[in-house]
Amino acid sequence: MYEHDVLVVGAGGAGLRAAIAAHEEGADVAMVTKLHPVRSHTGAAEGGINAALREGDSWESHAYDTMKGSDYLGDAPAIETLCKDAPDDVITLEHWGMPFSREEDGRVSQRPFGGLSFPRTTYAGAETGHHLLHTLYEQVVKRGITVYDEWYVMNVAVTDEPDPRDRTCHGVVAYDVMTGEVAGFKARNGVILATGGPGQAFDHTTNAVSCTGDGQAMAYRAGVPLEDMEFVQFHPTTLPSTGVLISEGVRGEGGILYNVEGERFMFEHGYANNDGELASRDVVSRAELTEVNEGRGIEDEYVHLDMRHLGEERIIDRLENILHLAEDFEGVDGLEQPMPVKPGQHYEMGGIETDENGETCISGLYAAGECACVSVHGANRLGGNALPELIVFGKRAGKHAAGTDLGEAKIVTGRTDDVEAGEVDSPVALGEAGISDAAVADGGAARLTDPDEVVEAAVDAERRRVERLMSKDDGIQHAEIRARVQKAMTKWVNVFRNEEGIKKALREIRKAREDYRDVYVDDPSRTFNTDLQMTIETRNVIDVAETIAVGALARDEFRGAHWRQEHQERKDERWLKHTLMAWNGGEPELWFRPVVLEGESKTYEPKIRSY
Ligand code: FUM
Repeated sequence: MYEHDVLVVGAGGAGLRAAIAAHEEGADVAMVTKLHPVRSHTGAAEGGINAALREGDSWESHAYDTMKGSDYLGDAPAIETLCKDAPDDVITLEHWGMPFSREEDGRVSQRPFGGLSFPRTTYAGAETGHHLLHTLYEQVVKRGITVYDEWYVMNVAVTDEPDPRDRTCHGVVAYDVMTGEVAGFKARNGVILATGGPGQAFDHTTNAVSCTGDGQAMAYRAGVPLEDMEFVQFHPTTLPSTGVLISEGVRGEGGILYNVEGERFMFEHGYANNDGELASRDVVSRAELTEVNEGRGIEDEYVHLDMRHLGEERIIDRLENILHLAEDFEGVDGLEQPMPVKPGQHYEMGGIETDENGETCISGLYAAGECACVSVHGANRLGGNALPELIVFGKRAGKHAAGTDLGEAKIVTGRTDDVEAGEVDSPVALGEAGISDAAVADGGAARLTDPDEVVEAAVDAERRRVERLMSKDDGIQHAEIRARVQKAMTKWVNVFRNEEGIKKALREIRKAREDYRDVYVDDPSRTFNTDLQMTIETRNVIDVAETIAVGALARDEFRGAHWRQEHQERKDERWLKHTLMAWNGGEPELWFRPVVLEGESKTYEPKIRSY
């Protein structure tokens, strides 16, 4: 068994930042990650990092924009923490050598982004995430932090008291992709999940194939609530054939959206009379699809994003990467032609419920980054707010897990006695479909309290799972099951949703669960068996997809990125609350908790949201 003070699972921006922070506090920290750190999906982030750095800007203004962008579903203590901490945390990156784009006078450049009242998005060309990842990884290497890369974490090792709030996480179980070994990793202080989002629940996504919601599914099955999963962000500018992201930075620099009639529809059709292309993402995505649905799309599928008027010099200086993406994936020369774009799944606003210190309701279990929900993004994330979240809350989680006192959190976690119970009119049974063996070890270990025994029991359960999956020689392959879930989610739980469609998606998810009982791994090898790994990941995709669809069915209102055909209005009197869902005895249990609108010195009053 491996043993460290703090274990960080995942090595994208949040994981790397958490590891550095824990190490700076004197902890023996190790990272366990299914990818090499610099291959993490943070590397695909293009546009930038929001932080109130300039004269004329303020953290208060950033917080107001973020709360408005969230459609009043973000929690004020989390949003204010993000906006207050972001400037110093960005300056730290600069001191570590992050190659930010700069003005003639040497200052770090900032550009406008959707939903911002001030141009506060710092960036490094259109490859900000790539440079962030490399800057942070250099610091990890410099500090000699141990990285177990290409070790796939299969489960957390958690005690199984009846109430998740009494449980403790003592480590994780991981699978060495190179050798096939399943081993335990004990954490003396804490485990930080920084495993990214669940974009692979959809088939048109900007997310890498590695984004399978592993951390969310593991935490969920261990009893931690997933919060606000119905809020999925669809980015307005992805390439139609692949889902590859075309950064909002293009519109930030002045790029324009046109329909087939050459109309600048954001203004001409009144979707956002003030901010046009720089309205927030939910607004722009709905506008594009409305144009297509009303017959003004191109090839009935997409619209055009034009940046030619910006001129070659500015495009090469600030958006060069976009030229390569458009050329390589669509064969379009962005200097000479408009680029085809359509909405695609990009980001999960919801996630593992945590407080401002990254702690979940299970002692010793933390989460940070896209897999977590603090919640700063509420019903809609503003572009440029994901990367500051990684560095601000990654750092806080790392410090706290290492034992640093960050003060009492204001955000409450877990199913407290005062929550409002919820129910949903599902057309099918939810949760486990007959797989009640150790493949899903609720709590990870039976009534054990000794940390070593808890980890060992979890290792045994995961070894049995691998053997069970490897011992079958026919059945259904993971790819077929996963593809069906992805198609159903993309068709029915997309930008526009209705009850009938969401119920169809739930039926498909149920079928996927039933078929998963018959899943088999075709590749018999014990080394680099990606077939086995993807089979395990597919189980996570199914669990997380179900939480998204259940949340979408339960929330009968229109808020932020969650639009419902039958309920086209925001219902503040009823829905100023978070959706929470936890795995209770193999079934999702649903409840609600009020959003926290009281900030440090003001209460954010919900207003009509227009751009
Ligand atoms: O459009 C973009 O560059 C993406 C940025 C973000 O999701 O924050």
